[in-house]
Amino acid sequence: MAKRKKIALIGAGQIGGTLALLCGLRNLGDVVLFDVAEGTPQGKALDLSHLAPVFGCDFQLLGTNNIADIKGADVCIVTAGLPRKPGMSRDDLVKTNAEIVRNVARGIKEHAPGSFVIVVTNPLDAMVYLMQRETAFPTSHVVGMAGVLDTARYQAFLAQELNVSVSSVSAFVLGGHGDDMVPVRSYTTCGGIPIERMLPKERLDAIEKRVRGAGGEVVALLKTGSAFYSPAASAIQMAESYLFDQKRVLAVAAYCQGQYGIKGIYLGVPVILGAGGVEKVLEIELTDAEKGQLHESAKRVEELIRIL
Ligand code: APR
Repeated sequence: MAKRKKIALIGAGQIGGTLALLCGLRNLGDVVLFDVAEGTPQGKALDLSHLAPVFGCDFQLLGTNNIADIKGADVCIVTAGLPRKPGMSRDDLVKTNAEIVRNVARGIKEHAPGSFVIVVTNPLDAMVYLMQRETAFPTSHVVGMAGVLDTARYQAFLAQELNVSVSSVSAFVLGGHGDDMVPVRSYTTCGGIPIERMLPKERLDAIEKRVRGAGGEVVALLKTGSAFYSPAASAIQMAESYLFDQKRVLAVAAYCQGQYGIKGIYLGVPVILGAGGVEKVLEIELTDAEKGQLHESAKRVEELIRIL
């Protein structure tokens, strides 16, 4: 009998709790929900354990304040840290969240040294860089979740505009997880038809502007925090691709070693994600404008890393 996989969720807030729910619904394996807040992970784990019989989820759930309980985890998903409030940019979180991520990295390094780590904490591209540096895990095994979410937002807005199924829209959003992210229009299609043949330039410009600000749009509406359902779903897709060796082609924050002329930082690029973690960074040909935007975005990430 195959042993169940173990998924450690570091941070049991809005995203962490949703991740635990999705792990159960999609039968990913046993879940450890860790947080520094006393009672929160225990309460959420208890509540979710009562949902298990309703949906027939056979998973063990542990809510804990003891980081040692993540021991032997196959995947760690990190959401520990503060979310944005209205008026804040993701970059405003850098100092506070860097301290938290450093702490968490020490715990992961000690207790789950062979794990695949997915960072969700913002500002994403800087936090995933820090996580890799502090754990010294192979770069193939430390990634950031941003591109899957930004791409999903692009797909959702395009599908609404065209009144088609979301699954008919194929797209990519690359670059950093900030307002200068790069929706790659030249690779975006609907049912295989290039998007530029389906929508006029002005509508595409407006939709891409909305994609860049979509996280902020949610923050402004919620007022007390940032998006959590869609970030959780996006991280789960990445975890599944790793755990089940699906080799999906996904936009993730991956370590660049010269691809796209970018070296030594994490940035959203298309990769093949399988049992080997990031098995390959795909280098696709971009238009000059897209290349320019990607380099601008990389510069912003470098500036943030310097603050660290
Ligand atoms: N270790 C573990 N958990 C921690 C630590 C730590 N050192 N420090 C803080 N936390 C916990 C908080 O106690 C809280 O429960 O992290 C949790 C964060 O949850 P929320 O405040 O609900 O934030 P959430 O919406 O889940 O977003 C988390 O992901 O998308 C990003 O910008 C977002 O950085 C934010 C992160």
